Amino acid sequence: MNDMTARSMDRTAIVTGGAKGLGLAIAKRLFEDGCRIALWDINVSSFDEEQADFGPAVKCQVDVADGHAVDAAFHSTLEALGHVDILVNNAGINGPVANTWDYAVEDWDRVLSVDLDSVFYCCRTAIPHMIERGYGRIVNVASIAGKEGNAGGSAYAAAKGGVIAYTKSIAKELAQTGVLVNCIAPAVAETELLREVTPEFIATTKAKIPMGRFVTASEVAATVAFAASSDCSFTTGFTFDVTGGRATY
Ligand SMILES: NC(=O)c1ccc[n+]([C@@H]2O[C@H](COP(=O)([O-])OP(=O)(O)OC[C@H]3O[C@@H](n4cnc5c(N)ncnc54)[C@H](O)[C@@H]3O)[C@@H](O)[C@H]2O)c1
Repeated sequence: MNDMTARSMDRTAIVTGGAKGLGLAIAKRLFEDGCRIALWDINVSSFDEEQADFGPAVKCQVDVADGHAVDAAFHSTLEALGHVDILVNNAGINGPVANTWDYAVEDWDRVLSVDLDSVFYCCRTAIPHMIERGYGRIVNVASIAGKEGNAGGSAYAAAKGGVIAYTKSIAKELAQTGVLVNCIAPAVAETELLREVTPEFIATTKAKIPMGRFVTASEVAATVAFAASSDCSFTTGFTFDVTGGRATY
């Protein structure tokens, strides 16, 4: 057992969008650190326990863009696990790549709803419970796009910029409660999220990374693991950079 494992023992963690991609890597890392995992996903059946090589304590089919569904999922998670210490708001979609004047209103609405509204829904339902217990760690998965913008991905960038600003705001609201809120801003990782974007978009984005490669899911998960741990005790409202040197702020 390493130190991190000892510190995370008996912690329970909700990971949204945990069935695949970065969420799966985050859930697995927190599990390995000793957490009981509530894995939430709109497509929870795509989680393959054998392939993932770990077992969540709870698997929950939920659309995090639906506030009522989020409330229900939180209550059933609490019922099953007794308490929740960690919330990782990871679920997200990219949306199509198009200039803003060609961007369909329904695509804009869906991206903002899944990538930004969902973070508010999950936080507002979990925070009273965390305040009551005097402890909580919330980690929101933003993106470098939220700092720098992405031509062709304005809805995504606007949502992720919103996540960064929202994180700063609620961190200040919660600063004296024991509930710390941070976000991470990764550069491109090769996950299914990229299925909606063009090869040119991927090539251009990779060229902007000084380390010359994409981030791995386990590197993202390691950053989340720190922000979700009790070791992260004097940092709140911060955006952890995971961009291989692209953003040095
Ligand atoms: N992949 C990248 O390059 C990259 C870079 C920066 C940030 N991010 C962010 O990381 C997060 C995870 O991305 P990923 O690359 O792993 O994507 P992914 O498409 O591989 O996985 C996303 C997961 O979220 C789930 N999901 C989608 N909509 C949902 C909803 N409404 N309710 C519940 N679950 C939902 C999906 O079913 C899927 O399991 C996203 O927030 C994304 O914006 C990704």
